[in-house]
Amino acid sequence: MKEQMLPAEGKLGILLPGLGAVASTMIAGVIASRKGLSKPIGSLTQTGHIELGEGKGDRYPLIKDFVPLASLDEVVFGGWDIYEDNVYQAASHARVLDQHLLNAIRPELETIKPMKAVFDRDYVKNLDGTFIKQSATKWEAAQELIRDIETFKKENNVSRVVIVWTGSTEKYLEQSAVHETIASFEAGLKNNDAAIAPSMVYAYAAVSIGVPFINGAPNLTTDIPAIVQLARKTKTPIGGKDFKTGQTLMKTIVAPGLAARSLGVNGWFSTNILGNRDGLVLDDEENFKTKEVSKLGVLEDILRPDLHPDLYGELYHKIRINYYPPHGDNKESWDNIDIFGWLNYPMQIKINFLCRDSILAAPIVLDLALFADLAQRAGMYGVQDWLSFYLKSPQTQAGEPAENDIFKQLNTLKQTLLGMMQEQTPQAPAVNRAKATEAII
Ligand SMILES: NC(=O)c1ccc[n+]([C@@H]2O[C@H](COP(=O)([O-])OP(=O)(O)OC[C@H]3O[C@@H](n4cnc5c(N)ncnc54)[C@H](O)[C@@H]3O)[C@@H](O)[C@H]2O)c1
Repeated sequence: MKEQMLPAEGKLGILLPGLGAVASTMIAGVIASRKGLSKPIGSLTQTGHIELGEGKGDRYPLIKDFVPLASLDEVVFGGWDIYEDNVYQAASHARVLDQHLLNAIRPELETIKPMKAVFDRDYVKNLDGTFIKQSATKWEAAQELIRDIETFKKENNVSRVVIVWTGSTEKYLEQSAVHETIASFEAGLKNNDAAIAPSMVYAYAAVSIGVPFINGAPNLTTDIPAIVQLARKTKTPIGGKDFKTGQTLMKTIVAPGLAARSLGVNGWFSTNILGNRDGLVLDDEENFKTKEVSKLGVLEDILRPDLHPDLYGELYHKIRINYYPPHGDNKESWDNIDIFGWLNYPMQIKINFLCRDSILAAPIVLDLALFADLAQRAGMYGVQDWLSFYLKSPQTQAGEPAENDIFKQLNTLKQTLLGMMQEQTPQAPAVNRAKATEAII
Protein backbone atom coordinates (compact mmCIF):
# COMPACT_ATOMS: atom_id res chain seq x y z
CA MET A 1 0.00 0.00 0.00
CA LYS A 2 2.96 2.32 0.60
CA GLU A 3 3.31 2.83 -3.17
CA GLN A 4 -0.35 3.83 -3.43
CA MET A 5 -0.22 6.27 -0.53
CA LEU A 6 -0.81 9.77 -1.83
CA PRO A 7 1.23 12.47 -0.08
CA ALA A 8 -0.45 15.05 2.17
CA GLU A 9 -0.05 17.78 -0.43
CA GLY A 10 -1.88 21.08 -0.02
CA LYS A 11 -4.22 22.08 2.74
CA LEU A 12 -6.70 19.87 4.57
CA GLY A 13 -10.12 21.31 5.41
CA ILE A 14 -11.71 19.96 8.60
CA LEU A 15 -15.43 20.72 8.54
CA LEU A 16 -17.46 20.26 11.70
CA PRO A 17 -21.25 20.16 11.81
CA GLY A 18 -21.77 21.53 15.34
CA LEU A 19 -19.35 24.28 16.41
CA GLY A 20 -19.98 23.88 20.14
CA ALA A 21 -17.79 23.01 23.11
CA VAL A 22 -15.87 20.07 21.63
CA ALA A 23 -15.32 21.61 18.20
CA SER A 24 -14.25 25.02 19.52
CA THR A 25 -11.91 23.41 22.07
CA MET A 26 -10.28 21.35 19.34
CA ILE A 27 -9.90 24.28 16.94
CA ALA A 28 -8.52 26.59 19.65
CA GLY A 29 -6.09 23.87 20.75
CA VAL A 30 -4.72 23.36 17.25
CA ILE A 31 -4.27 27.10 16.71
CA ALA A 32 -2.65 27.52 20.15
CA SER A 33 -0.30 24.59 19.43
CA ARG A 34 0.57 26.02 16.05
CA LYS A 35 1.58 29.28 17.73
CA GLY A 36 3.60 27.47 20.39
CA LEU A 37 1.22 28.64 23.16
CA SER A 38 0.32 25.13 24.23
CA LYS A 39 0.87 21.46 23.48
CA PRO A 40 -1.50 18.94 21.83
CA ILE A 41 -1.59 16.58 24.82
CA GLY A 42 -3.86 13.56 24.43
CA SER A 43 -3.44 13.39 20.67
CA LEU A 44 -1.89 10.16 19.47
CA THR A 45 -1.20 11.62 16.03
CA GLN A 46 0.83 14.46 17.54
CA THR A 47 2.56 12.85 20.52
CA GLY A 48 2.29 9.05 20.10
CA HIS A 49 5.07 6.70 18.99
CA ILE A 50 4.95 3.43 17.10
CA GLU A 51 7.29 0.44 17.44
CA LEU A 52 9.03 -0.83 14.31
CA GLY A 53 10.94 -4.04 13.69
CA GLU A 54 14.63 -4.48 14.40
CA GLY A 55 17.25 -2.97 12.09
CA LYS A 56 15.09 0.05 11.23
CA GLY A 57 17.28 2.75 12.75
CA ASP A 58 14.85 4.66 14.96
CA ARG A 59 12.64 1.84 16.21
CA TYR A 60 10.16 4.15 17.98
CA PRO A 61 9.38 7.04 15.64
CA LEU A 62 6.57 9.47 16.29
CA ILE A 63 3.44 8.36 14.46
CA LYS A 64 3.34 11.69 12.61
CA ASP A 65 6.88 11.05 11.34
CA PHE A 66 6.06 7.48 10.35
CA VAL A 67 2.86 7.99 8.33
CA PRO A 68 2.33 11.00 6.04
CA LEU A 69 -0.26 12.89 8.08
CA ALA A 70 -1.45 16.40 7.27
CA SER A 71 0.57 18.84 9.34
CA LEU A 72 -1.26 21.09 11.81
CA ASP A 73 0.10 24.06 9.85
CA GLU A 74 -1.82 22.89 6.78
CA VAL A 75 -5.22 22.48 8.44
CA VAL A 76 -8.12 24.89 7.85
CA PHE A 77 -11.36 24.79 9.86
CA GLY A 78 -14.99 25.43 9.05
CA GLY A 79 -18.40 24.10 9.98
CA TRP A 80 -22.11 24.57 10.47
CA ASP A 81 -24.23 25.46 13.49
CA ILE A 82 -27.77 26.46 14.35
CA TYR A 83 -26.36 29.45 16.26
CA GLU A 84 -24.50 32.19 14.40
CA ASP A 85 -21.64 32.52 16.95
CA ASN A 86 -18.14 32.50 15.49
CA VAL A 87 -15.66 30.09 17.08
CA TYR A 88 -14.30 32.71 19.50
CA GLN A 89 -17.84 33.34 20.76
CA ALA A 90 -18.65 29.61 20.85
CA ALA A 91 -15.48 28.83 22.82
CA SER A 92 -16.13 31.72 25.23
CA HIS A 93 -19.70 30.52 25.72
CA ALA A 94 -18.53 26.93 26.33
CA ARG A 95 -16.18 28.12 29.11
CA VAL A 96 -13.83 25.17 28.65
CA LEU A 97 -10.65 27.10 27.93
CA ASP A 98 -9.11 29.95 29.81
CA GLN A 99 -10.21 33.34 28.46
CA HIS A 100 -6.57 34.55 28.34
CA LEU A 101 -5.70 31.74 25.95
CA LEU A 102 -8.78 32.46 23.82
CA ASN A 103 -7.92 36.16 23.68
CA ALA A 104 -4.40 35.35 22.50
CA ILE A 105 -5.85 33.62 19.43
CA ARG A 106 -9.02 35.68 19.12
CA PRO A 107 -8.47 36.97 15.53
CA GLU A 108 -7.94 33.43 14.19
CA LEU A 109 -11.00 32.11 16.02
CA GLU A 110 -13.23 35.01 14.98
CA THR A 111 -12.64 34.34 11.29
CA ILE A 112 -14.17 30.87 11.63
CA LYS A 113 -17.90 31.43 11.21
CA PRO A 114 -20.55 28.76 10.88
CA MET A 115 -22.56 28.08 7.77
CA LYS A 116 -26.32 27.70 8.17
CA ALA A 117 -27.24 24.28 9.56
CA VAL A 118 -29.55 21.54 8.41
CA PHE A 119 -31.66 21.10 11.52
CA ASP A 120 -34.93 19.56 12.67
CA ARG A 121 -36.07 20.40 16.16
CA ASP A 122 -37.92 17.13 16.35
CA TYR A 123 -34.46 15.52 16.70
CA VAL A 124 -33.07 17.90 19.36
CA LYS A 125 -35.94 19.36 21.38
CA ASN A 126 -33.88 21.30 23.90
CA LEU A 127 -32.18 23.60 21.36
CA ASP A 128 -33.84 26.58 19.68
CA GLY A 129 -31.25 28.07 17.30
CA THR A 130 -32.45 29.87 14.20
CA PHE A 131 -29.39 29.84 11.90
CA ILE A 132 -30.96 27.14 9.78
CA LYS A 133 -31.32 26.43 6.06
CA GLN A 134 -34.88 26.79 4.79
CA SER A 135 -34.71 23.97 2.26
CA ALA A 136 -37.92 22.66 0.72
CA THR A 137 -36.81 19.02 1.06
CA LYS A 138 -34.03 17.03 2.73
CA TRP A 139 -32.72 16.33 -0.78
CA GLU A 140 -32.44 20.07 -1.42
CA ALA A 141 -30.73 20.45 1.99
CA ALA A 142 -28.13 17.84 0.98
CA GLN A 143 -27.49 19.70 -2.29
CA GLU A 144 -26.98 22.93 -0.33
CA LEU A 145 -24.47 21.18 1.95
CA ILE A 146 -22.58 19.93 -1.11
CA ARG A 147 -22.43 23.51 -2.39
CA ASP A 148 -21.20 24.65 1.06
CA ILE A 149 -18.37 22.10 0.96
CA GLU A 150 -17.36 23.08 -2.55
CA THR A 151 -17.45 26.79 -1.77
CA PHE A 152 -15.37 26.21 1.39
CA LYS A 153 -12.80 24.29 -0.66
CA LYS A 154 -12.52 27.05 -3.23
CA GLU A 155 -12.47 29.96 -0.80
CA ASN A 156 -9.83 28.37 1.43
CA ASN A 157 -7.80 26.82 -1.35
CA VAL A 158 -7.86 23.39 0.30
CA SER A 159 -7.06 20.24 -1.64
CA ARG A 160 -8.93 17.77 0.62
CA VAL A 161 -11.80 17.89 3.11
CA VAL A 162 -12.93 15.61 5.94
CA ILE A 163 -16.00 15.99 8.13
CA VAL A 164 -16.34 15.00 11.79
CA TRP A 165 -19.85 15.30 13.31
CA THR A 166 -19.50 17.32 16.52
CA GLY A 167 -23.17 18.29 16.57
CA SER A 168 -25.65 17.48 19.30
CA THR A 169 -26.87 14.00 20.07
CA GLU A 170 -30.10 13.41 18.18
CA LYS A 171 -33.14 11.56 19.50
CA TYR A 172 -33.10 7.77 19.50
CA LEU A 173 -33.76 6.26 16.10
CA GLU A 174 -33.82 2.68 14.91
CA GLN A 175 -32.89 1.57 11.44
CA SER A 176 -35.91 1.29 9.14
CA ALA A 177 -36.78 0.61 5.49
CA VAL A 178 -35.76 4.07 4.27
CA HIS A 179 -32.19 3.44 5.50
CA GLU A 180 -31.82 0.12 3.66
CA THR A 181 -30.50 1.09 0.22
CA ILE A 182 -29.12 4.13 -1.57
CA ALA A 183 -32.30 4.24 -3.69
CA SER A 184 -34.69 4.10 -0.72
CA PHE A 185 -32.62 6.72 1.10
CA GLU A 186 -32.56 9.10 -1.86
CA ALA A 187 -36.32 8.67 -2.31
CA GLY A 188 -36.69 9.42 1.42
CA LEU A 189 -34.61 12.60 1.07
CA LYS A 190 -36.89 13.73 -1.76
CA ASN A 191 -40.13 13.10 0.13
CA ASN A 192 -38.86 14.35 3.49
CA ASP A 193 -39.03 11.02 5.27
CA ALA A 194 -39.23 11.71 9.01
CA ALA A 195 -36.77 8.86 9.74
CA ILE A 196 -33.90 10.69 8.03
CA ALA A 197 -32.11 12.63 10.76
CA PRO A 198 -30.23 15.88 9.99
CA SER A 199 -26.89 14.16 10.71
CA MET A 200 -27.73 11.65 7.96
CA VAL A 201 -28.29 14.48 5.50
CA TYR A 202 -24.76 15.77 6.24
CA ALA A 203 -23.34 12.24 5.95
CA TYR A 204 -25.11 11.67 2.64
CA ALA A 205 -23.90 14.99 1.22
CA ALA A 206 -20.30 14.33 2.25
CA VAL A 207 -20.05 10.71 1.18
CA SER A 208 -21.80 11.31 -2.15
CA ILE A 209 -18.91 13.60 -3.16
CA GLY A 210 -16.15 11.44 -1.62
CA VAL A 211 -15.59 13.44 1.58
CA PRO A 212 -14.75 11.17 4.57
CA PHE A 213 -17.31 11.42 7.37
CA ILE A 214 -16.78 10.36 11.00
CA ASN A 215 -19.57 10.55 13.55
CA GLY A 216 -18.63 11.65 17.07
CA ALA A 217 -22.13 11.42 18.55
CA PRO A 218 -24.11 8.24 19.27
CA ASN A 219 -26.66 8.89 16.48
CA LEU A 220 -27.05 6.25 13.75
CA THR A 221 -25.86 8.73 11.06
CA THR A 222 -23.39 6.64 8.99
CA ASP A 223 -24.36 3.36 10.64
CA ILE A 224 -27.07 2.48 8.13
CA PRO A 225 -26.76 0.28 5.02
CA ALA A 226 -27.52 3.16 2.62
CA ILE A 227 -24.54 5.25 3.75
CA VAL A 228 -22.27 2.18 3.96
CA GLN A 229 -23.21 1.26 0.37
CA LEU A 230 -22.70 4.84 -0.76
CA ALA A 231 -19.26 4.90 0.90
CA ARG A 232 -18.26 1.81 -1.07
CA LYS A 233 -19.62 3.25 -4.29
CA THR A 234 -17.78 6.57 -3.91
CA LYS A 235 -14.72 4.92 -2.25
CA THR A 236 -15.04 7.08 0.86
CA PRO A 237 -13.92 6.32 4.44
CA ILE A 238 -16.66 6.52 7.08
CA GLY A 239 -16.80 5.73 10.79
CA GLY A 240 -18.43 6.28 14.18
CA LYS A 241 -19.97 6.38 16.72
CA ASP A 242 -19.57 8.55 19.82
CA PHE A 243 -16.20 9.84 21.04
CA LYS A 244 -14.80 7.64 23.80
CA THR A 245 -14.15 10.05 26.67
CA GLY A 246 -14.84 10.27 30.40
CA GLN A 247 -16.58 7.41 32.07
CA THR A 248 -16.58 5.04 29.11
CA LEU A 249 -12.88 5.65 28.59
CA MET A 250 -12.31 4.58 32.21
CA LYS A 251 -14.57 1.57 31.75
CA THR A 252 -12.67 0.31 28.75
CA ILE A 253 -9.38 0.75 30.64
CA VAL A 254 -10.51 -0.96 33.87
CA ALA A 255 -12.71 -3.77 32.50
CA PRO A 256 -9.98 -5.43 30.39
CA GLY A 257 -7.76 -5.47 33.50
CA LEU A 258 -10.42 -7.20 35.60
CA ALA A 259 -11.06 -9.67 32.80
CA ALA A 260 -7.31 -10.31 32.43
CA ARG A 261 -7.19 -11.34 36.10
CA SER A 262 -10.37 -13.50 35.76
CA LEU A 263 -12.07 -11.43 38.47
CA GLY A 264 -15.86 -11.58 38.51
CA VAL A 265 -18.10 -8.53 38.15
CA ASN A 266 -21.74 -8.61 39.19
CA GLY A 267 -22.58 -4.92 39.30
CA TRP A 268 -21.41 -1.73 37.62
CA PHE A 269 -23.34 1.42 38.45
CA SER A 270 -22.27 4.56 36.61
CA THR A 271 -23.62 8.01 37.21
CA ASN A 272 -22.59 11.40 35.84
CA ILE A 273 -23.36 15.05 36.28
CA LEU A 274 -22.54 17.61 33.63
CA GLY A 275 -23.76 21.10 32.89
CA ASN A 276 -22.78 22.00 29.35
CA ARG A 277 -25.08 22.26 26.31
CA ASP A 278 -24.52 18.56 25.61
CA GLY A 279 -25.87 17.88 29.12
CA LEU A 280 -28.90 20.05 28.37
CA VAL A 281 -29.61 18.08 25.18
CA LEU A 282 -29.21 14.77 27.03
CA ASP A 283 -31.67 15.97 29.64
CA ASP A 284 -34.38 15.00 27.16
CA GLU A 285 -35.27 11.31 27.55
CA GLU A 286 -35.29 10.58 23.81
CA ASN A 287 -31.79 12.02 23.36
CA PHE A 288 -30.51 10.30 26.52
CA LYS A 289 -31.72 6.96 25.15
CA THR A 290 -29.39 7.34 22.14
CA LYS A 291 -26.45 7.92 24.51
CA GLU A 292 -27.47 5.14 26.88
CA VAL A 293 -27.60 2.54 24.12
CA SER A 294 -24.16 3.62 22.92
CA LYS A 295 -22.65 3.31 26.43
CA LEU A 296 -24.31 0.08 27.51
CA GLY A 297 -22.76 -2.33 25.01
CA VAL A 298 -19.19 -1.70 26.11
CA LEU A 299 -18.98 -4.00 29.15
CA GLU A 300 -20.63 -7.02 27.57
CA ASP A 301 -18.31 -6.81 24.59
CA ILE A 302 -15.23 -6.69 26.81
CA LEU A 303 -16.26 -9.15 29.54
CA ARG A 304 -18.04 -11.65 27.26
CA PRO A 305 -20.58 -13.20 29.73
CA ASP A 306 -21.36 -15.75 27.00
CA LEU A 307 -17.84 -17.20 27.43
CA HIS A 308 -17.57 -16.60 31.20
CA PRO A 309 -21.01 -17.16 32.75
CA ASP A 310 -19.53 -17.75 36.24
CA LEU A 311 -17.72 -14.41 36.18
CA TYR A 312 -20.07 -12.08 34.31
CA GLY A 313 -23.35 -13.97 33.81
CA GLU A 314 -25.11 -11.95 36.55
CA LEU A 315 -23.67 -8.54 35.64
CA TYR A 316 -26.07 -5.66 36.33
CA HIS A 317 -25.03 -2.53 34.43
CA LYS A 318 -26.80 0.78 34.98
CA ILE A 319 -25.94 4.24 33.62
CA ARG A 320 -27.40 7.62 34.55
CA ILE A 321 -26.57 11.11 33.27
CA ASN A 322 -27.93 14.16 35.04
CA TYR A 323 -27.88 17.75 33.83
CA TYR A 324 -26.29 19.93 36.52
CA PRO A 325 -25.50 23.46 35.22
CA PRO A 326 -23.06 24.55 38.00
CA HIS A 327 -20.45 22.05 36.76
CA GLY A 328 -20.44 23.34 33.18
CA ASP A 329 -18.13 21.25 30.99
CA ASN A 330 -16.41 19.74 34.04
CA LYS A 331 -18.19 16.43 34.17
CA GLU A 332 -18.04 14.41 37.36
CA SER A 333 -18.64 10.69 37.20
CA TRP A 334 -18.94 8.02 39.85
CA ASP A 335 -18.62 4.31 39.26
CA ASN A 336 -19.41 1.69 41.82
CA ILE A 337 -18.07 -1.66 40.69
CA ASP A 338 -19.02 -4.81 42.59
CA ILE A 339 -16.45 -7.47 41.91
CA PHE A 340 -15.69 -10.87 43.38
CA GLY A 341 -12.62 -13.06 43.62
CA TRP A 342 -11.39 -16.37 44.96
CA LEU A 343 -14.30 -18.43 46.38
CA ASN A 344 -16.75 -15.65 45.44
CA TYR A 345 -15.53 -13.20 48.12
CA PRO A 346 -16.93 -9.74 47.25
CA MET A 347 -14.93 -6.54 46.85
CA GLN A 348 -15.73 -3.03 45.62
CA ILE A 349 -14.02 -0.46 43.46
CA LYS A 350 -15.10 3.21 43.49
CA ILE A 351 -14.00 5.58 40.77
CA ASN A 352 -14.66 9.29 41.03
CA PHE A 353 -13.44 10.92 37.84
CA LEU A 354 -13.44 14.73 37.76
CA CYS A 355 -12.90 15.08 34.07
CA ARG A 356 -13.20 17.80 31.49
CA ASP A 357 -15.36 16.50 28.72
CA SER A 358 -14.20 18.64 25.85
CA ILE A 359 -10.53 18.48 26.92
CA LEU A 360 -10.76 14.71 26.51
CA ALA A 361 -12.78 14.89 23.28
CA ALA A 362 -10.80 17.57 21.41
CA PRO A 363 -7.69 15.47 20.59
CA ILE A 364 -9.97 12.63 19.49
CA VAL A 365 -11.64 14.89 16.91
CA LEU A 366 -8.25 15.98 15.60
CA ASP A 367 -6.89 12.43 15.37
CA LEU A 368 -10.03 11.10 13.68
CA ALA A 369 -9.90 13.88 11.11
CA LEU A 370 -6.19 13.34 10.34
CA PHE A 371 -6.52 9.53 10.21
CA ALA A 372 -9.65 9.67 8.02
CA ASP A 373 -7.71 11.83 5.56
CA LEU A 374 -4.77 9.42 5.75
CA ALA A 375 -7.08 6.45 5.11
CA GLN A 376 -8.46 8.12 2.01
CA ARG A 377 -4.98 8.84 0.66
CA ALA A 378 -4.07 5.20 1.36
CA GLY A 379 -6.98 4.05 -0.82
CA MET A 380 -9.04 2.75 2.12
CA TYR A 381 -12.80 3.15 2.12
CA GLY A 382 -15.98 1.90 3.75
CA VAL A 383 -16.21 1.50 7.53
CA GLN A 384 -12.86 2.29 9.17
CA ASP A 385 -13.18 0.04 12.22
CA TRP A 386 -9.45 0.38 12.94
CA LEU A 387 -10.42 3.78 14.40
CA SER A 388 -12.56 2.08 17.11
CA PHE A 389 -9.90 3.14 19.63
CA TYR A 390 -11.53 6.57 19.69
CA LEU A 391 -15.15 5.49 19.80
CA LYS A 392 -17.63 4.37 22.41
CA SER A 393 -19.85 2.34 20.14
CA PRO A 394 -17.69 1.42 17.15
CA GLN A 395 -19.34 0.94 13.79
CA THR A 396 -18.02 -2.28 12.29
CA GLN A 397 -18.06 -4.06 8.96
CA ALA A 398 -21.43 -5.78 8.49
CA GLY A 399 -21.79 -8.66 10.92
CA GLU A 400 -18.47 -8.09 12.68
CA PRO A 401 -18.63 -7.81 16.48
CA ALA A 402 -17.31 -4.53 17.91
CA GLU A 403 -14.01 -4.53 19.80
CA ASN A 404 -14.20 -2.31 22.90
CA ASP A 405 -11.04 -3.29 24.78
CA ILE A 406 -8.93 -0.14 24.44
CA PHE A 407 -5.65 -2.07 24.38
CA LYS A 408 -6.77 -4.35 21.56
CA GLN A 409 -8.15 -1.30 19.75
CA LEU A 410 -4.80 0.49 20.02
CA ASN A 411 -3.03 -2.59 18.73
CA THR A 412 -5.33 -2.76 15.71
CA LEU A 413 -4.81 0.94 15.02
CA LYS A 414 -1.03 0.61 15.12
CA GLN A 415 -1.04 -2.59 13.06
CA THR A 416 -3.11 -0.76 10.45
CA LEU A 417 -0.56 2.05 10.30
CA LEU A 418 2.24 -0.51 9.98
CA GLY A 419 0.25 -2.26 7.24
CA MET A 420 -0.14 1.04 5.40
CA MET A 421 3.61 1.52 5.43
CA GLN A 422 4.36 -2.22 4.93
CA GLU A 423 6.27 -2.52 8.17
CA GLN A 424 6.13 -5.35 10.66
CA THR A 425 6.91 -5.49 14.34
CA PRO A 426 8.23 -8.72 15.85
CA GLN A 427 4.86 -9.02 17.63
CA ALA A 428 2.68 -8.29 14.62
CA PRO A 429 0.32 -11.25 14.48
CA ALA A 430 -0.93 -12.10 11.01
CA VAL A 431 -4.54 -11.96 12.20
CA ASN A 432 -4.32 -8.26 13.00
CA ARG A 433 -2.78 -7.42 9.68
CA ALA A 434 -5.61 -9.28 7.98
CA LYS A 435 -8.23 -7.48 10.07
CA ALA A 436 -6.70 -4.12 9.31
CA THR A 437 -7.02 -4.58 5.58
CA GLU A 438 -10.72 -5.37 5.87
CA ALA A 439 -11.29 -1.67 5.95
CA ILE A 440 -10.16 -1.63 2.32
CA ILE A 441 -13.10 -3.16 0.56
N1 LIG B 1 -17.50 16.07 25.15
C1 LIG B 1 -17.39 14.77 25.17
O1 LIG B 1 -16.65 14.22 25.94
C2 LIG B 1 -18.18 13.95 24.20
C3 LIG B 1 -17.99 12.59 24.21
C4 LIG B 1 -18.69 11.79 23.31
C5 LIG B 1 -19.56 12.38 22.41
N2 LIG B 1 -19.75 13.71 22.46
C6 LIG B 1 -20.72 14.25 21.51
O2 LIG B 1 -20.14 15.27 20.76
C7 LIG B 1 -21.17 16.18 20.39
C8 LIG B 1 -20.70 17.58 20.72
O3 LIG B 1 -20.57 17.75 22.12
P1 LIG B 1 -20.42 19.23 22.72
O4 LIG B 1 -20.10 19.07 24.15
O5 LIG B 1 -19.53 20.04 21.85
O6 LIG B 1 -21.91 19.77 22.58
P2 LIG B 1 -22.36 21.26 22.32
O7 LIG B 1 -23.82 21.28 22.63
O8 LIG B 1 -21.48 22.25 22.98
O9 LIG B 1 -22.12 21.43 20.74
C9 LIG B 1 -22.94 20.86 19.79
C10 LIG B 1 -23.27 21.91 18.77
O10 LIG B 1 -23.99 21.30 17.71
C11 LIG B 1 -24.93 22.24 17.24
N3 LIG B 1 -25.91 21.52 16.46
C12 LIG B 1 -26.94 20.75 16.86
N4 LIG B 1 -27.57 20.22 15.80
C13 LIG B 1 -26.92 20.66 14.70
C14 LIG B 1 -27.10 20.45 13.32
N5 LIG B 1 -28.08 19.68 12.87
N6 LIG B 1 -26.25 21.04 12.47
C15 LIG B 1 -25.24 21.83 12.92
N7 LIG B 1 -25.03 22.07 14.23
C16 LIG B 1 -25.85 21.48 15.11
C17 LIG B 1 -25.45 22.90 18.51
O11 LIG B 1 -26.04 24.13 18.26
C18 LIG B 1 -24.18 23.02 19.34
O12 LIG B 1 -23.53 24.26 19.15
C19 LIG B 1 -22.43 15.75 21.16
O13 LIG B 1 -23.25 14.97 20.30
C20 LIG B 1 -21.88 14.90 22.24
O14 LIG B 1 -22.80 13.93 22.69
C21 LIG B 1 -19.07 14.52 23.31
